[in-house]
Amino acid sequence: MNVSVVGSGYVGTSVAACLADLGHDVVAIDIDADIVERINAGESPIHEPGLPELIEEHAGGRLRATTEHAALRDTDLTFVAMQTPSREDGSIDLSVVEAGMRDVGETLAEKEGYHLVVVKSTVLPGMTEERLIPVLEEASGKTEGEEFGVAVNPEFQSQGSAVDDFMNPDKLVFGATDDRAYGLLRDLYAPLVEQADARAEVVETGLREGAMIKYANNVFLAAKISTINEIANVCKEYGVDSYEVSDAIGLDERIGASFLRSGAGWGGSCFPKDTDALRAAAREKEYEPVLLDAVVTVNDRQPVRMVDFLERHVDVEGRRVAVLGLAFKPETDDIRGSRSKLAIEALEQRGAQVVAFDPTEAADHMAEQYPDVKYVESAAAALDGAHGALVMTDWPEFAALDAEFDAMADPVVVDGRRIVERREGIVYEGLTW
Ligand SMILES: NC(=O)c1ccc[n+]([C@@H]2O[C@H](COP(=O)([O-])OP(=O)(O)OC[C@H]3O[C@@H](n4cnc5c(N)ncnc54)[C@H](O)[C@@H]3O)[C@@H](O)[C@H]2O)c1
Repeated sequence: MNVSVVGSGYVGTSVAACLADLGHDVVAIDIDADIVERINAGESPIHEPGLPELIEEHAGGRLRATTEHAALRDTDLTFVAMQTPSREDGSIDLSVVEAGMRDVGETLAEKEGYHLVVVKSTVLPGMTEERLIPVLEEASGKTEGEEFGVAVNPEFQSQGSAVDDFMNPDKLVFGATDDRAYGLLRDLYAPLVEQADARAEVVETGLREGAMIKYANNVFLAAKISTINEIANVCKEYGVDSYEVSDAIGLDERIGASFLRSGAGWGGSCFPKDTDALRAAAREKEYEPVLLDAVVTVNDRQPVRMVDFLERHVDVEGRRVAVLGLAFKPETDDIRGSRSKLAIEALEQRGAQVVAFDPTEAADHMAEQYPDVKYVESAAAALDGAHGALVMTDWPEFAALDAEFDAMADPVVVDGRRIVERREGIVYEGLTW
């Protein structure tokens, strides 16, 4: 099929490259000329395992990029994968997607025949019908359901495993109202559903349900982590190793073994934003989301607890403290929602001089927001002379740290990810064990 993807960020680029790999002809459209140039040069604009290889293989062939929305006229369907950031009150800011929809609508005005617009961006139930379809209808002068269709097809990829998640999904959610839309999506994803070891269930549902499934999925996972973190905090107070507890309860099929690693908490561009958006949406309908509020409170407390544990052993005021890991998780350079931010803020409030290291460009992104932190080129440089260290991201290289701890002024290590080996010569504090 001929497919266009409007918005070539974390989601759009990986979706475009994966669809090209499935055999479709794909054009990625972005207003950022730098992203477009990089894709056309066969380079990945983001750090994501497996993506550089796909872009290198398909750029110039089944994958091309452009800043011109007119390119979508030559395609059968258009994915919309623009950002939906949070406003101050947690509600989502739809203005970028609305502006993008206007671009899409204006272009569709000059297209002959049916076209399907598929919303990949995470939007709340009702937003597609009440805000996006009217923009498309006005800009195109056409009627939805007749001359063009609209569907939601949320993306469940995780950063760090986006390609793998796309290629081996557990489900494909098609939210739509008309049969042509379901049909086009079935055809598009057929290679994934028909592959020999496919496990993907296709869920065909309404627009509102399709939108809500994405929120329910993310918010449930965030709540699962906060639940184990709360239980694990109590474990720590009683001298119980929460990981032994997690391993055992994970054997109960109703609980499941994944997402039970307690620690510094969840972050990223999706869990915080989606949890906040659902809380704000609930309040808009005058429903108090007490559990979801607590899910966030527990999560924001974890990095502060790490600083509290450090202060049980050393006074950090005026002292150098190492923060290891700035990306919100390994295999990404994304710092959105990173727990390291709250740890840095707590340390700075208590007068510490923070020295930080991350193996990716995450450090450059962090420097824009936390200019008083000293950013260094290795974990060893961060630990050298430090009166304590907080391990915030489970980068594999932190598991190999050993003699580097001997160069610390006070070798107190507070591990938020259970990755550092407990050993003689260091004061080791596991956050929840
Ligand atoms: N990041 C993830 O892992 C992830 C996973 C699932 C769902 N989502 C959702 O997908 C959506 C996109 O997220 P993202 O992380 O890829 O965002 P992003 O900020 O990385 O990318 C958005 C891209 O859209 C481009 N853009 C903005 N306006 C445009 C326009 N008018 N025309 C063309 N391009 C335009 C921007 O230049 C940018 O490159 C969000 O709703 C997000 O919640 C993200």
